[in-house]
This record gives sequence, structure tokens and C-alpha cells, in this order.
Amino acid sequence: MTYDMIIVGGGLAGMRAAIAAADLGVKPVVLSMVYPVRSHSVAAQGGINAALNNVSDEDSWERHAFDTVKGSDYLADQRAVSILTREAIPRVYEMEAWGVPFSRLPDGRIAQRPFGGAAFPRTCYAEDRTGHNLLHTMYQQCLRRDIAFLNEWLATDLAVEDGRCRGLIALDMQKARFHELRADTVILATGGAGRIYRQSTNALINNGSGIALAFRAGVPLKDMEFVQFHPTTLYGTNILITEGARGEGGYLLNSKGERFMERYAPKAMELAPRDIVARSIATEINEGRGIADAYVHLDLTHLSAKKIMERLPGIHEIALRFAGIDIRKQPMPVQPGQHYTMGGVDCNEQCETNAAGLYTCGECSCVSVHGSNRLGGNSLLETIVFGKIAGENAAVFAQAQQKKKAGSTLLKELYRRRLDAFAPAGSAGTPVGELFNRLRSVMIEKVGVFRQKKDLTAAVQAVREVGEAFSGRRIVWNNRPFDLGLATSLEFAGMIDLALIVAQGALRREESRGSHARTDFPERDDGRWLSHTIAEPGEDGPRFSAKAVDLSIWEPKERTY
Ligand code: FUM
Repeated sequence: MTYDMIIVGGGLAGMRAAIAAADLGVKPVVLSMVYPVRSHSVAAQGGINAALNNVSDEDSWERHAFDTVKGSDYLADQRAVSILTREAIPRVYEMEAWGVPFSRLPDGRIAQRPFGGAAFPRTCYAEDRTGHNLLHTMYQQCLRRDIAFLNEWLATDLAVEDGRCRGLIALDMQKARFHELRADTVILATGGAGRIYRQSTNALINNGSGIALAFRAGVPLKDMEFVQFHPTTLYGTNILITEGARGEGGYLLNSKGERFMERYAPKAMELAPRDIVARSIATEINEGRGIADAYVHLDLTHLSAKKIMERLPGIHEIALRFAGIDIRKQPMPVQPGQHYTMGGVDCNEQCETNAAGLYTCGECSCVSVHGSNRLGGNSLLETIVFGKIAGENAAVFAQAQQKKKAGSTLLKELYRRRLDAFAPAGSAGTPVGELFNRLRSVMIEKVGVFRQKKDLTAAVQAVREVGEAFSGRRIVWNNRPFDLGLATSLEFAGMIDLALIVAQGALRREESRGSHARTDFPERDDGRWLSHTIAEPGEDGPRFSAKAVDLSIWEPKERTY
């Protein structure tokens, strides 16, 4: 199968890239692990940031950029952030024109709500189902352009030969067949790696597949130790409870009924950035002021039922169905849970990786616009801003190719190796479920909100042991359609790689910055650590190095809220 462009990932970033390429006359194919409107972008709730100034009249894209850089604890690349926040305005209006049913102010303009770490109400929303509405609209725009999709396909190997990306191997899960797909350009847009953690808001498909594909093909990763914990996930299921609930006025209360955020962020309170609120909740629980030693309360009962049903109907439904709680009358039990992968495939502002013809965008990439802590509402934004940039640049690259869709010995070799690696159908094999659970438990227990050398060393050791136990096993291929056990098994080697990079990167970084809170190194240390972490494959596991941060606009300062 040969293509001008393959986009791996059918979420917002991948589909925005496809639209950009199609609008420049290149025909992309989008390879998606699920039907595109089931991609994880659908789960984003609270909104998308853009300085539209519909509620305040003092906001600007420059102020949005500053808040983002400060929120990142000065690890974000500042020119990339400026692109993100400047382009936010036209991209959000474009989504409006394409049909997103945004919530509205009485005068008809897009409504905006306050979100953590933002100086002004800047988060545009569609009730609390913003990702859902954006994703459906984006898919409609793809259908309008007749963009081709390979739905329920899983990319398993990426071919990068002599510094040039040539295509990939993928499994058609409907037909249970592997294919060799040649392409002039590939864009990775597969989302995050949340499911290397046991408690995560992420969909079950978020195993970090694109990030691992790139790493295994020799493409460097950046800043993987920075893992975002969302402060409020529903206790018991870890389903996301949007920051919008606090944006609309919700309180966080401990077992004594105290609004404890007063102790940690006296000005911003519940709307401090996520790293600070997550740490505050974890501290309350660790110091015995949690409820059942496990959660705190998110209380909306002082808000009017009308406001809750108009602005947070999804949260009302989630709490009712999954915890039996009517949020109009009772507080919700919440605890921090893994939410977002700040690191990813290393790329520049043009979404180019170090392999010619290979681009990346969205959560699986690291431009870097989030640094060590992402502000809520900047993730949906990143998908539509950098999705467009990736699609356009990849299209220009594809158009310039002389030797169209060149064959690749590596691609053929990867295909053969992939098929040869299986144990024959019907043979016993060993299921990976137990190893999978071990990996995810180690990550949440030892590489979580608070980190320290002893735990991180133990985590590195435990992940290595999982890797050793898995490397001796052959996966059984039973030729069954929709074999999701097979899909997870195929992704598992990559998950082990990523877990090791996160844990080793966290052990290496002897400071606290943004989401990375070392109890044994509680201060930020700009002298030693104001740099990105690069991880590349080495002989005995990942090889780490440092890369300069773009600080061309703002000097790093102490971060207070
Ligand atoms: O809290 C939320 O609604 C999540 C938003 C985000 O991750 O950007």
C-alpha cells in the first residue's frame, strides 16, 4: 500500500493535520486505532484557551503566552508558546465557523470561563463536552474533504532508514492482517501514554504507541519525566472531573470541611495550576486530612442547579452514573490521577522530527509548549494549532519528493520480523495481563505526584524486571479479528520503554519543577536543570542528554499564585 502521507492517529491533531494537507492538494490517509469520533480527544471536557476577550477586555495572546510559560515553570520554549497563543484566536474562530456548538454569552459571542493559572477567563467551552463537540465537527470537515481513513488499524513499526522515514507496518484489526504501508511522509498524532499508570483519566487506547514507535525507530523523545496529574478525578474510577467545575465556582474541601487551597495558593485558590492543586490534595490526604485516607471533596452544592445543568451536565451525569452522587445536593469524592503526557516525540516549531519526512503533533509530540506543567485548556488548543502546522509542512515535503514512495529494505525487513516473532496460532503462550498490571502499579506507586530517589530507583528496577520477563515471551497470533488482547500485547514492549524513560528521567532530574516534585530536592534548580531532557535508544536502555530551552522572551522568575 503506498501513500503520499500517512497520519497515525484519528483524534483532533491527526484530523486537523489531514485537513491542512488536503487543503494543499495532498491526499492523506488517516490510520486510527478506533473509529475517529471515539478518539481520546472526545473526553476533553472543560474547554480550549484563546484570548478572545469576550468576558474580560484586558486579555491578549501575549498575556496567554506569559501565563503558559509561567505555568510551565519556565521549561516551555517561548517562541513555540507564542505561536500557540497567537494562532489560538484564528483557529478557535475557524472551529466556530466549521460548526462547533460553543456555549454562548447572552449577546451570542463564545462564552469563556476561568481556568487554572490564567489571568482572565480565557477558556472557550461547549458545556463540559468541548472535546466531543470539536472532534465531531473536525470529523465532519474530514468527510467534507473526502479524506480516507483506515479505521481500527494499529501501527506497530515505523521505518526510519538513513535518517528518512519510509512508512510503517500496521495491523488491520478488523481483518487480522498485517500490512506494509509505504509513504512519502508520516505524521504521528497518537496521543499520550497515560495508561502506563494504573490511575488515569486516559482512554484504554492511550498506551503511548506513537511515542514508542518513534523511540524504537531511533527518533529522540523529550521531557518524558513530566507527567501531569489532574487534581480532580472521580474516586474509584479516575474519570476526569473537569477543572471547569472549579472554574464555575466549585470548592475543594478536606475532612474538616476546610477550603484547604488557602494554605497553598491563597490568591488563586482552587484555580491555581494543576501541579499545585494536585500536590495540595495529595498533601491533605498524606497528612491525614483526606476522607477515608483516599480523597477530598469537590463541592458544587452552593451553585444553582440551573448553572450546574447548563454548564456541567456531563459532570452531573458522570457523578450520578459512576458514584451514585447528585452533585446538586452532595459533594463529589475526588483524587489526583494521571492525565497528560507533557513530554513526547522531540520536534521543532514546524513539527519536524530528526527524521526527514516524519512529523508529529498533539499530545504524542513535544514542541514544547507545556514545559513541566500544562495549563488546562491548552491541550485542545495545541491539537488544532500544531495539527495544522504539521499537516501543511508535511504536505509541502510530500509535494517536493522526486522519487515518490521509494521502496525500503527496512520496511520489508520489519514486516518479516513482525510476522516471524509470533508464536503459532493455538500455542499456549503467556498472557501479558499480569505484567501489564505490575508495570502500571509501579508507576502510580513510585513515580507519582511526589517522587524521591528511593522510590524512583525501585521503579527503574521493577520496570527493568518487567521488561526482562516480557522479552522472553512470544505473543500468540490466533488470526482473530478485533483481538484487543493482541493489540495491547503488541504495544506492551513500547510501554515498558516509555515507563523506563519516565522513571529514569525522573531519577536523573534532581530538582522540583512543575509536575516533577522531588521530596528530596524540593527546590527548582535553574543552574543545573533549566534544560530539556532528551532520551534516545542506547545499548543498555535509554541514553539521556540535555537540550537548551528557548528563553528568548521572558526571564525565569519564582512562580507564585
Ligand atoms: O479539566 C479539564 O476539563 C481538562 C482540560 C484539559 O486537560 O485541558
